[in-house]
Amino acid sequence: MKQIFNFSAGPAVLPKAVLECAQAEMLDWHGSSMSVMEMSHRGKEFTSILAKAEADLRTLLSVPDNYKVLFLQGGAIAENAMIPLNLLNGRAADYVETGGWSKRSVEDASAYGKINVVASTEADQYTYVPEFTGWHLNKDAAYLHICTNETMSGVEFDGLPDAGDVPIVADMSSHILSRQIDVSQYGVIYAGAQKNIGPAGLCIVIVREDLLGRASPLTPAVFNWKIQAENQSMINTPPTYSIYIAGLVFEWLLAQGGVVAIEQKNIEKAVLLYDYIDSTDFYSNNVATNNRSRMNIPFFLRDESLNDAFLKGAEANGLLQLKGHRMVGGMRASIYNAMPLAGVQALVAYMQAFEQAH
Ligand SMILES: Cc1ncc(COP(=O)(O)O)c(C=O)c1O
Repeated sequence: MKQIFNFSAGPAVLPKAVLECAQAEMLDWHGSSMSVMEMSHRGKEFTSILAKAEADLRTLLSVPDNYKVLFLQGGAIAENAMIPLNLLNGRAADYVETGGWSKRSVEDASAYGKINVVASTEADQYTYVPEFTGWHLNKDAAYLHICTNETMSGVEFDGLPDAGDVPIVADMSSHILSRQIDVSQYGVIYAGAQKNIGPAGLCIVIVREDLLGRASPLTPAVFNWKIQAENQSMINTPPTYSIYIAGLVFEWLLAQGGVVAIEQKNIEKAVLLYDYIDSTDFYSNNVATNNRSRMNIPFFLRDESLNDAFLKGAEANGLLQLKGHRMVGGMRASIYNAMPLAGVQALVAYMQAFEQAH
């Protein structure tokens, strides 16, 4: 198999060791003579897989005891609707728009109640997180929704606003487990799995216990956080194989030294790429320096007529999926936890060679 580096924004590269383990265990998980895909979700084998995955995730993020961890289906987009259904309870909510994903969250949530957009950088092409002091927060909001890493435009929060007693609900799909966070600062954290966790479709929801029990009666049971919390995410058949792969990724991450260690590696990779982009006029990144994402790095060629040649050459060099999101254009390198430093070094070497050739 050819050596490639996959810079896809998601579904994205997974640790090779995880895929090899899944391959080795495909037909016979731990002497059970069954594939994980064939196991009853209520059997002792799978319930042990689920319990270990949850315990490891709790360790990785130091999740406090008063938070529930749910393994749900429907990806992060399903939660866009389920957040208002689970939390609005007749009130309004505040949303901040810092990119295409939080804009989508506003659109989706608006069907379920009153949504106030309290800050937006749409007019500036989503290139920064607006100053917290300028947010028009409502003290009586049911919650404040933010997307702490905007995958399309590469904008990452470098702090959190003081929302008082209003719980912060954060879409962390594209940077969960990439950096240390203090879970207790959030009411709800949710993340689609297909970047730093595992297969698409799975969504992790970490919710503070006092926020359970506010759901509209119209909330489907499979998306009702309280019902799912009371049933170990098994009010329906959970996405068993995806949870198994997520568990392997958590084990891998613990073996790397956990979030503390991976954060240092992520900083090293991101600095390497941003420093090179900043060192030349040939490429540019237009995100405010303190909000530049460590996971998703969009960049533009000064001469956009070279875009196709850049992508073609990259592919020939085994550097895949570098095309920018269609809403943003240009290029984007997603360098999640599983992207080795060697991948970013190879990308920078290719970018230098391409610059010299043109
Ligand atoms: C930040 C963010 N939120 C939400 C989503 C939507 O995730 P899904 O398609 O899994 O529902 C994505 C997908 O890439 C994302 O990057």
